[in-house]
Amino acid sequence: MLTLANVAKSYGTRELFSEVSLFVARTDRFGLVGPNGAGKSTLFNLILGEEQPDEGTIEWERGADFGFLPQESAPVGDETILHIATSGKKLEPENDDDYDIDWTLEPRAKKILAGLGFREDDFLKQAKSFSGGWVMRAHLARLLVSEPALLMLDEPTNHLDLEALLWFQDYLTRYPGGLVIISHDREFLNVLCNGILELKGGTLNKYTGNYDDYLNEKDARKEQQAALFKNQQREIAHLQKFVDRFGAKASMASRAKSKEKQIERLKDVAVEEPWEDLKRINFRFPQPPRSGLKVMNLKNVQQAYGDHVVYRDLNFEVERGQKIVLVGPNGAGKSTLLKILADVIPIQGGSRDLGSNVYPGYFAQNRGDNVKLDLTVLENVMELRTAENQLTEQQARAVLGGFLFRKDDVFKKASVLSGGEKSRLALARLLVNPPNLLLMDEPTTHLDIPSIDALVNALKNYEGTLIFISHDVYFIRTLAQTVLHVHSGRLTPYAGNYDYYLEKSKAANARAALTAGFTDARPKQTTASPTTKSQTPDAKQTAKPSASDLKKLRTDVSKLEQKVSELEAKQAEITAALEAPETYADKGKFHHLNKELSVIVDQLTAATAEWEAAATRLSELDKA
Ligand SMILES: Nc1ncnc2c1ncn2[C@@H]1O[C@H](COP(=O)(O)OP(=O)(O)OP(=O)(O)O)[C@@H](O)[C@H]1O
Ligand SMILES: [Mg+2]
Repeated sequence: MLTLANVAKSYGTRELFSEVSLFVARTDRFGLVGPNGAGKSTLFNLILGEEQPDEGTIEWERGADFGFLPQESAPVGDETILHIATSGKKLEPENDDDYDIDWTLEPRAKKILAGLGFREDDFLKQAKSFSGGWVMRAHLARLLVSEPALLMLDEPTNHLDLEALLWFQDYLTRYPGGLVIISHDREFLNVLCNGILELKGGTLNKYTGNYDDYLNEKDARKEQQAALFKNQQREIAHLQKFVDRFGAKASMASRAKSKEKQIERLKDVAVEEPWEDLKRINFRFPQPPRSGLKVMNLKNVQQAYGDHVVYRDLNFEVERGQKIVLVGPNGAGKSTLLKILADVIPIQGGSRDLGSNVYPGYFAQNRGDNVKLDLTVLENVMELRTAENQLTEQQARAVLGGFLFRKDDVFKKASVLSGGEKSRLALARLLVNPPNLLLMDEPTTHLDIPSIDALVNALKNYEGTLIFISHDVYFIRTLAQTVLHVHSGRLTPYAGNYDYYLEKSKAANARAALTAGFTDARPKQTTASPTTKSQTPDAKQTAKPSASDLKKLRTDVSKLEQKVSELEAKQAEITAALEAPETYADKGKFHHLNKELSVIVDQLTAATAEWEAAATRLSELDKA
């Protein structure tokens, strides 16, 4: 229903892509992927006719309608949420002869709005009283209601929390039309797509299957290309040797000449060396000034939105250097807690005490307001120069390099940046003068995988205190040292990393555990339970341990110790085997070992966390 032929687009001297050809049929479900700034949103704009291609043609089949969700929010007027959701199709018949009123429209719209997280009493409120993210949800509802033949969605999951995301994903699996979805969410693409379009390095590559199939196929293609490249280079080198040796000899001159020609021909058809995807940056971000040991103390805090009470009697302590992730069901109050800590919403009761020398910094989901659109990328960082931080241009560029802005990128106006580039800039701005209490709500939204790595890299060595909310299991796994489960106005701390929490919460899978609403799965206080730096008041009332408890705990600790060292030995063994040259030669073996290693590493992480928690508990009990 849609055909692109040899499409090319440049901005100034920078060619975004060329020779893009594509056919989209009604049954296609494509994921459009590629690094931040590759031109995905631009390609959508071309398809929608909002911008013109420099070359090539784009044709729609007659009668094919489409729906489009932009990456960033569109302005709204006075209409209600329900109005937006139903405005994709006409409510009223055009004239009296038309009896074809769609009575199912409104009920359907309401159902979809509810699925996307709106409450019944939101339907008739004006859209402009909602945040940008919620307006986007209303527009998403409109698209689902009107059911166009082709849905084009630019990072739709950015606006959703996990519950709405799961609902939406499920809804789309049953969607009757075609889909082209830009997304960085691997799981989402896996569930929905039967084809992946990769826009990268100026070309569009098509792969059959879902995202995992794409990754596998890509690996295979890369290996093939690497092998081909090696062979070609070998042949070229061989020919070159001949030319070098005999080129000067009169008797051999003509043969050398012909070999030289052969080299030229080979070079013409030679494949490029497969390039590495991740350009590692080892830039160290500045450390924040050190705060006092006590960072924050919330006492008996009350917080309600209208009559909806989120927290009645909230107690929470944070200590320097903690790295806490907040998990729990949607609406449990994770963002609210973060906002209370950041002092962006005033508390309605109780107290919020900031420790000495604590500078909080808050990174909200709608990070757009964190960058200055009329300044260039470089100016956006340079303007943050302070008396203490006399940033030179070189340093500013190093910071920006840490967030993957290279060379001329830094002279771009912030207004033309892609969604991911804007997020990276906002993060760079935040971390130039890092606050020592960092509060982040979904910082990886809009970011592609290399950018998430850049952020992880910036935060890994961060010596301040970090509290964040994220849907990104990888991000959480790498950074969080404590998991705080927020549910029904209560906080349950798990003093271990995410895997420790997973094990304790017995969640079905890593993602489900993010929104799990259990209350009774918390670790029993009598067994190897974590002691936490930040406890809810009731967690403190632990009974004095009996001698047999202590004995059991001791056995647990030594068993876990043994398990950890066994796993470590195994890990060392596999690593050594992987490094052996003969393993490289045997592809099957290499893959097998690699897989085994990742299993061991996972087990080791979990076991270490468990051991740490048990050992901490034991030492505290011993002290008591
Ligand atoms: N008017 C413009 N002038 C110059 N450069 C532009 C202009 N508009 C966009 N760009 C650049 O073109 C590139 C592609 O932008 P685009 O928004 O299409 O990327 P994207 O693939 O959607 O990225 P993301 O994943 O971050 O959303 C970006 O580097 C952006 O800065
Ligand atoms: Mg984009």
